[in-house]
Amino acid sequence: MSNENFIKNILCIGAGYVGGPTMAMIAAKCPRYKVTVVDVNAEKIKAWQADNLPIYEPGLLDVVKKARGRNLFFSTDTEAHIKSADIIFVSVNTPTKMYGAGAGKTADLQFWEKTARDILRVAESDKIIVEKSTLPVRTAEAMERILSSNGKGIRFDVVSNPEFLAEGTAISDLENPDRVLVGSKETERGRRARESIVEIYANWISRDRIITCDIWSAELSKLVANAFLAQRISSINSISALCEKTEADVKKVAHAIGMDSRIGLKFLNASIGFGGSCFRKDILNLVYICEYYGLHEVAEYWENVIKINEYQEGRFVQKMIHAMFNTIANKRIALFGFAFKANTGDTRESPAIYVTQKLAEERAHVVITDPKAIRNAEQDLKDIREYVEFETDPYKAAQGAHAVAILTEWDLFKTLDYKKIYENMEKPAFLFDGRNILDHRRIFDIGFNVYPIGKPPLMHF
Ligand code: UDX
Ligand code: ADP
Repeated sequence: MSNENFIKNILCIGAGYVGGPTMAMIAAKCPRYKVTVVDVNAEKIKAWQADNLPIYEPGLLDVVKKARGRNLFFSTDTEAHIKSADIIFVSVNTPTKMYGAGAGKTADLQFWEKTARDILRVAESDKIIVEKSTLPVRTAEAMERILSSNGKGIRFDVVSNPEFLAEGTAISDLENPDRVLVGSKETERGRRARESIVEIYANWISRDRIITCDIWSAELSKLVANAFLAQRISSINSISALCEKTEADVKKVAHAIGMDSRIGLKFLNASIGFGGSCFRKDILNLVYICEYYGLHEVAEYWENVIKINEYQEGRFVQKMIHAMFNTIANKRIALFGFAFKANTGDTRESPAIYVTQKLAEERAHVVITDPKAIRNAEQDLKDIREYVEFETDPYKAAQGAHAVAILTEWDLFKTLDYKKIYENMEKPAFLFDGRNILDHRRIFDIGFNVYPIGKPPLMHF
């Protein structure tokens, strides 16, 4: 298809976990739109152009292959593509700011603002700008102001279209989302811009699942959705601590409460704590804006979701050290899983980072195995490299170890031969199941001392 046959040019700035999969899905579902994804990172772009994609996401390669070279393109030439774009999605990273005002809380907008300025400098025609990255509420308004400050007579309409996909299930989340949210100014121009975005998604999603609203509600909904999800995990994790004291079983409690349709069964798996690039960052953003508006009680309420998460991570490490006779110096400890959840290689904010750092502080020898996350783990742990070993084979990782700790719920770890693992470990052998994925009674019968989350331990002594 020649360029002239495309009805619109879509550009996405930022080829990461959000931009890459989302644009691949749009291109696959909308052959009449030309979709180009650009990134400052040339290596990443090269990887998107080949079959060795820069992120691991089940089913993603098939979707990319369907559209790549037809109406999906990857490039580093941001300027040329800004010029020809009708619609620009911005999905650059917005990590938590680590300096100056709002440090440790609000989002670092330098990548976003740079993108806005690039657009402003290069653009020669009107454009719709779509906020995809998670941003503090009211960023869209600020961006529209920056963009409108051009003397070129060009109009920019900024629309918020927050992404709700979860890693590991991105393809099905994109193909069959619970909802798509598009917010814009409630002006005629704003509503027209919003409709252009709705039209894209309407190619494969029924219109009753595409919600439109004002721009601030859209921005805030993203933060609140993540805060509510994270709050469920902190709630059940707080109860897991109580279960360990009272001999109740957190899985049974979660099931019993989750059967109440008002509560629901999802996101009630007690764990070592939540990770990922969004939950902590988005709650901190929420806390920051609440404080900014003087809503200190509200800020404190949400901050506690993070505090419980940190408490849960800390509790897990303490339990390990305590169980192993209060000393783990020079003990080999195998960590099964480093990704923040299964089916991704992403390790951002993974509780495994904290666990490894704490074990290394106690001078343990930590061996990490993970089917997809070792490359990222190596980066995360470069400062404590001397205490850490990486091993692709879980059996070798556990060989000679005093303990195995399961940190990510990969299916692979459910089906290993734990008898064989036990036989090759130091005795007494410990197993800490940070995800409650094993049959603890069976593991105990093999000979392990077993420490689940939210259940009393099973010990041979
Ligand atoms: C999340 C939101 O789900 C998604 O809608 C948003 O767009 C981005 O943030 P993601 O971080 O990719 O997605 O993964 P998610 O499945 O939400 O898991 C986040 C963390 O919570 C993981 O560390 C996971 O292991 C943990 N978790 C999840 C639990 O500990 N228990 C649960 O019951 C569910
Ligand atoms: P997310 O999970 O939000 O998608 P990622 O870090 O995976 O975050 O992806 C964001 C991408 O945005 C990175 O690949 C980064 O190189 C890219 N990026 C950041 N700033 C710019 C910019 N000014 N122009 C183009 N790409 C950018």
